Amino acid sequence: MFLTFWRFRSAIASHAGAMGGGALLVIFVAAMEVALPWPMKIIVDDVLQPLGQPAQHGTPAFLGLAALGPLQLLLLAAGALLTMTVMNAAADYLGTRVLNSVGEKTMATIRADVFAHLQRLSLSFHDKQRLGDLVTRTTTDVDYVRALMVSMLSVLLPNVFILGFVTTICVLVDPAFALIGLAVAPLLFVTVLVYRRRIKTASREARSKDSDIAAAMSETFASVRVMQTYTSEARHEDDFRARNNGRRDAGLRVIRLQSMFSPLVDVIATMGTVLVLWIGAQRVLEGTMTLGVLLVFLAYLKALYSPMKSLAKLTTVISRGQASAERIQEILDTAPAISDKPGAVPAPKLAGAVELRGVCFGYQGDRHVLHGIDLKAEPGSVVAITGPTGAGKSSVASLIPRLYDATRGAVLLDGMDVRDMQVATVRKQISMVLQESILFRGTIYDNIAYGSEGAAREQVLAAAEAAHVDEFVRNLPLGYDTPVAERGVTLSGGQRQRIAIARALVRDTPIVILDEPTSGLDAISEQYVMRGLERLMARRTVIVIAHRVSTLKRADRIYVMDHGRVVESGRHGELVEAGGLYSRLDQLQHAKDAPAPALSLVPTESSA
Ligand SMILES: Nc1ncnc2c1ncn2[C@@H]1O[C@H](COP(=O)(O)OP(=O)(O)OP(=O)(O)O)[C@@H](O)[C@H]1O
Ligand SMILES: [Mg+2]
Repeated sequence: MFLTFWRFRSAIASHAGAMGGGALLVIFVAAMEVALPWPMKIIVDDVLQPLGQPAQHGTPAFLGLAALGPLQLLLLAAGALLTMTVMNAAADYLGTRVLNSVGEKTMATIRADVFAHLQRLSLSFHDKQRLGDLVTRTTTDVDYVRALMVSMLSVLLPNVFILGFVTTICVLVDPAFALIGLAVAPLLFVTVLVYRRRIKTASREARSKDSDIAAAMSETFASVRVMQTYTSEARHEDDFRARNNGRRDAGLRVIRLQSMFSPLVDVIATMGTVLVLWIGAQRVLEGTMTLGVLLVFLAYLKALYSPMKSLAKLTTVISRGQASAERIQEILDTAPAISDKPGAVPAPKLAGAVELRGVCFGYQGDRHVLHGIDLKAEPGSVVAITGPTGAGKSSVASLIPRLYDATRGAVLLDGMDVRDMQVATVRKQISMVLQESILFRGTIYDNIAYGSEGAAREQVLAAAEAAHVDEFVRNLPLGYDTPVAERGVTLSGGQRQRIAIARALVRDTPIVILDEPTSGLDAISEQYVMRGLERLMARRTVIVIAHRVSTLKRADRIYVMDHGRVVESGRHGELVEAGGLYSRLDQLQHAKDAPAPALSLVPTESSA
């Protein structure tokens, strides 16, 4: 349990003062709880005792109050009771408030830490993650840890003190009788221990089912368009129902355990009370114990057992919180696969030479998708990569800004291994237009300026013009201030692509990587955008993945990839001459542009 605090010590550290203050307040409340039965004891034993009989366990004597008359004593005791109750209430209010505020603040810190850490984790981690699971870890799990910390401080901590105070006082007042009162404590302890473990297991299960549900949500609604066109709602619903039922059953298991626990504690506690009453009443009748002392013992028993009962609820909170803490820790413990190695230097201002030397790479362990890739781009040159789908073109592109590390061979920029340079300083000098253009929530302007903080407005607008964004933005009522929905779905594919190109244009980087930059554009727009790209390409090293001959012809060198290997390389003319894979792809494209061949494999109506 305390491990949870240790785990998040750095997040707690900044709120340690308030946390300590809150803890002191609740300890004060605990002390008050313990003191509260005493004024009553004085009233019973010393005010109400039959006149003339000396008190057997006279309290006023050792408090130096022997000289006081019964009425004065009553007044004093009643006054003390009132004062203590008010002080108790005030401390209780303050303590609860302080601890809960600290809980909120600590959690905000932890949430921010988790988010920041998640962002830094490499693609190889995110490839395997389900978005919904990450969302629950940063929201509900963090909240459960907060509940754990707050209840440990505001419930468990005072209860431990009450237990300590009460036991000490009982032993001081009447050691033999104290033993009777605590007779059932071991039984309680074992019960709590056993149930805690079982509830924890059940809670952990319920938590992972929560993630299942969140994942189903995010997966379904991220692809709602596909789902509806394929009318596969029923399938998604069944899938959701199955996961939902799993969560329900896990929740029911927790509830079954939890509801059994509280009555069990009740029964054991009552056994203790009955024992004390039975022996205590006899001793009062014998005259070996005052009624006041018996009342104090009974009050203490209640003070001991009611926390035990609240422990039942606490058990769930703690177990749930521990399971959540583990899930959060799992993320925080994952080291980014890609990080600066010790002694990595900041990348110098790059001229833009890119080289892949014998690079092998696989997304999953040994299953390589790239086999011994050799590729070279001189500063300021345009290098094209082409080849059939799945050949590994995008994989090659993602190795250059070190989104992944090669398993063998090396990626060199200006002759330096990318792994010897600080990742951030390398990535700052590379612009990438991805195969699918991703937009962020914000305005069109924000999306173009994304990643170029500090760029002047003219610079951003010039880029927008060059990428032919201006064309369609001009027709929008809000212009560049038009908000873009998440994932950019309010714009067409080609429009998004142009914004992505403009984004790369603003960043004035020596290396530019374009992954099929014009695939979403019609022939005319493509011509325009290519002209814009021309500007982007000037003075820069450009690595462009393309299929269109018009783009390929422009390249200083073309690398043809197939099945994770470079099978040919050269200029357009040379490759067409060579008669290899490239010339076949080239021919196919010409055939596509030409009128349909007379002989068609598609059955016509007359032949059907
Ligand atoms: N994130 C990933 N995790 C696991 N395997 C991947 C991942 N991305 C790609 N692959 C695999 O790597 C191989 C090469 O994929 P890549 O995306 O590099 O091909 P490509 O040449 O860009 O294809 P396309 O022209 O369709 O974009 C494929 O077999 C693909 O299944
Ligand atoms: Mg690709």
